[in-house]
Amino acid sequence: MKICITGGAGFIGSHVVRSFVNNYPNYKVFNLDALTYAGNLENLHDIEKEPNYTFLKADIRNQEEISSLFKVHQFDGVIHLAAESHVDRSISNPLAFVETNVLGTVNLLNAFKSVWNNNYEGKRFYHVSTDEVYGTLGEEGLFTEKTAYDPRSPYSASKASSDHFVRAYGETFGLPYVLSNCSNNYGEYHFPEKLIPLFINNIMYGKPLPVYGDGNFTRDWLYVQDHARAIDLIFHKGQNHETYNIGGFNEWKNIDLVRLLCAQMNDKLGREKGESEKLITFVKDRPGHDKRYAIDATKLNKELGWYPSVTFEEGLSKTIDWFLENTQWLENVTSGAYQDYYQKQYQ
Ligand code: NAD
Ligand code: DAU
Repeated sequence: MKICITGGAGFIGSHVVRSFVNNYPNYKVFNLDALTYAGNLENLHDIEKEPNYTFLKADIRNQEEISSLFKVHQFDGVIHLAAESHVDRSISNPLAFVETNVLGTVNLLNAFKSVWNNNYEGKRFYHVSTDEVYGTLGEEGLFTEKTAYDPRSPYSASKASSDHFVRAYGETFGLPYVLSNCSNNYGEYHFPEKLIPLFINNIMYGKPLPVYGDGNFTRDWLYVQDHARAIDLIFHKGQNHETYNIGGFNEWKNIDLVRLLCAQMNDKLGREKGESEKLITFVKDRPGHDKRYAIDATKLNKELGWYPSVTFEEGLSKTIDWFLENTQWLENVTSGAYQDYYQKQYQ
């Protein structure tokens, strides 16, 4: 079995690559990644010498490059995670999101389709998507697999579009796919432009914690290794042409999450109660900021027996410990190009 995991040098992708390399010694695992600002091969230092692992530096926006790699390697399975993934960046540069998330996905679908040419026995294309395609919720309710799409940011619009293309290739060309829509992930190797790793970094160095708006925005958080386990399960056991919602039934208002993070870090850093909380700074809101996301993962629970393995408090504590033990990783990724972006965003 030859598996191509796109975006394998990114946050979630690196956990998926690691679990496939370690759990399936008989598979050949290819990590196809362009190494953008968010891609970092250091995330895979522990498995990079394994005989069943190969890194392919390639850009999914480049149709010729992608189709020739597919012709050479004849991947039986694709797990597609490569994307521009940060909502704030999609507000300052929407086109980059169309190019990578929409065009890049169609390039992969075309390459897969033309290699297998309707002979799809034992083949599978897995598209990894987000709960943001469903839009935003009021105080009540959960997103199910039947919730109508209502994307509201350039990021979620580009992911919604890519989801539509995957399903359209399934209907029109019989391409065998599975698709999943997951809630907010957190954990090891999370790039420090997203809420949790950014705030861990800032608490460590005594920098302000920029909470958007009034902080009363709700997200449903899932430990990244639980997402990677769900992807493994859906890739192997999910029904063809089906969609699975993935989430931890774990809703937090941003401000409550930030207070929990501060409290855990005060303990771990030997700081007084309330000390890190003083860094909380309310800043201008994100334009079009979605109020609440919450996933109903009942289908995945019932059909495939998947449940999150850790509570949020445990997962957050493990995550903080990892960041405190890996300050060199954090320094490496917060230098250079990322610094320029950081200045622009928070000036
Ligand atoms: P990330 O930004 O950490 O990583 C993205 C990876 O894709 C990087 O390694 C980057 O180098 C690579 N990449 C970007 N553009 C590319 C291109 N043109 N060609 C090849 N590689 C390219 O993203 P993430 O947070 O790990 O998210 C991975 C996937 O999961 C995305 O599709 C995202 O939409 C989805 N998702 C993320 C979350 C989350 O909370 N982070 C939740 C649900 C779904
Ligand atoms: O829901 C899944 C999505 O979760 C994924 O598809 C995206 O790729 C991923 O980036 C994430 O999107 P969010 O926009 O929810 O994540 P982010 O970490 O950027 O923000 C989480 C919440 O925290 C959101 O309400 C905005 C807020 N926030 C974020 C940042 C970076 C702040 O208040 N301050 C900040 O500095």
